[in-house]
Amino acid sequence: MKLHRNLLVLAMLLALVCAPCAPAQKASADLNGHAWWRHAVIYEVYPRSFADSNGDGVGDLNGITSKLDYLQALGVDAIWITPCFPSPQVDFGYDVSDYVNIDPMYGTLADFDRLVAEAKKQNIRVILDFVVNHTSDQHPWFLDSKSSRTSAHRDWYIWRDGKGPGQPPNNWLSTFGLSAWKYDPTTKQYYYHYFYPEQPDLNWRNPQVEKAMFDVTRFWYRRGVAGFRLDAVDTLFEDPNLTDNPVLPGTDKFGRPKMLEKYNKKLPEMHTTLQGLRKVADEYDAVLIGETWTSNVAQLEEYYGANGNELQLPMDLMLTELPLSANTLREHIQAVNAARGWPTYVITNHDIRRSYSRYADGVHNDDIAKMMAGLYLTLRGTAIMYYGEEIGMENNDPKRKEDVKDPEGILGWPKEIGRDGERTPMQWNGSVNAGFTTGKPWLPLPESAKTHNVEAESKNPNSVLSFYKRVIDLRKTEPGLLEGEYISLNEADPNVLSYLRKGKDGTVLVVLNVSGKAQSASFELSKQGMAGAKVTALAQNAVSAPDGVLKDVKLEPYGVYIGRVSQ
Ligand code: GLC
Repeated sequence: MKLHRNLLVLAMLLALVCAPCAPAQKASADLNGHAWWRHAVIYEVYPRSFADSNGDGVGDLNGITSKLDYLQALGVDAIWITPCFPSPQVDFGYDVSDYVNIDPMYGTLADFDRLVAEAKKQNIRVILDFVVNHTSDQHPWFLDSKSSRTSAHRDWYIWRDGKGPGQPPNNWLSTFGLSAWKYDPTTKQYYYHYFYPEQPDLNWRNPQVEKAMFDVTRFWYRRGVAGFRLDAVDTLFEDPNLTDNPVLPGTDKFGRPKMLEKYNKKLPEMHTTLQGLRKVADEYDAVLIGETWTSNVAQLEEYYGANGNELQLPMDLMLTELPLSANTLREHIQAVNAARGWPTYVITNHDIRRSYSRYADGVHNDDIAKMMAGLYLTLRGTAIMYYGEEIGMENNDPKRKEDVKDPEGILGWPKEIGRDGERTPMQWNGSVNAGFTTGKPWLPLPESAKTHNVEAESKNPNSVLSFYKRVIDLRKTEPGLLEGEYISLNEADPNVLSYLRKGKDGTVLVVLNVSGKAQSASFELSKQGMAGAKVTALAQNAVSAPDGVLKDVKLEPYGVYIGRVSQ
């Protein structure tokens, strides 16, 4: 008892001594008082495909740790690791069966701690992926929930009677094909799953679910995690009356009637949950990134919260859906830039065809990759990269149904081929498996791995990788890119997208030829108060623009010019 009391006193003393060193917003702010994530480059790591340290053909945490030097040299400030928790891997980790552990396939909690500690030494923060909407059907919560109608966890998921024999409760559809309801014979009710049937939706209207899930975030914050990417947030809540969704004309890629997902998506209640998650995040100076699919900028704005009290970084995923057009990009960037909240740009991820393949014209593929880097890494906002983007990795899509691993592709073949193509192993060198594994990689590598890999591109000053490194470096060192406001230039030009990032300590000019033809752009900055300005090139590709008085910039197809402006 006495020992107990002494320990208590000791703990109280320690708490007092340590209070001033508890993480505070200021501790991680930049010189201008901004939180670290505002100028950050966040790098998405798909752990299955990044680096395999034990030769089983699947990447792992020790693999990631072994590549921290590379990430540091690239200029990465934080890595977001997609789910690495225990999982039956039906959705490759997005079906979590234990939120507070590491899947043995990826390593152990000790490996995770080592990764965080080693990353810290390189000034790289670790962000995890929080699958908030659903668990795996093998999670103990769900196993208990389905065991009986009166089980302790019954109400942690969404169970309902069917409309009639063999009929689901309503017409809602799973985004991965078929109905969103699965009948369970043990308790003779249906459960709701927006994704695969193996991913039952949690019932966020139950305060016990909220508490358990908030505690999960605390567990990882205490282990040194800098924040979370919140998965599929707009599917958190459903209409409790289960109103049928309006049916639209036509069929979707699975051949089902199209629907307006009015009653099972983007329900306003999700904002209360995001506010709650943010409160906890603030206790740990953490950042919340959102997987925020929106149709317009007004919708995106809502995710910041009315008082900036929800997500700091809701992803602008709309950018991934825009065509290569100067006018369209200009219009979009202006709208995002004018919105409340700090922009978060993304051009690809593990669910989206790689940007390199999306934009490729077969002739200027590398130039286009550099131009896109020159665009989104010089905008005012946080940038989220996807592994391999920096070396111009392309999609390697399955050619036959029997090769598909992603269940969505198996069910939807051939109209929906799934997401394997954008998830292939990282290309480290020109050897057989691109240096990813000594075993058989879980997904095959494309031919282009021979030319587009870290080793080869590191030696080539004109590679996509060298261009990325340069621009990321400028992002951190050029005051105009750090603090400057975004000023759109030459708005009538349908081919060349140009803008200034103008700050009190420096100004940068960015000129991008968003076309497959040579273009010329002329500049005169008197309206911007910089008549007779001079430029010095900072980074360029497929461009001719002599240093000196700023006038014309001549650009080859998809050329990009970034220059410092002075008077
Ligand atoms: C998100 C993930 C995707 C996953 C889905 C279900 O959209 O990015 O990969 O399949 O959620 O968790």
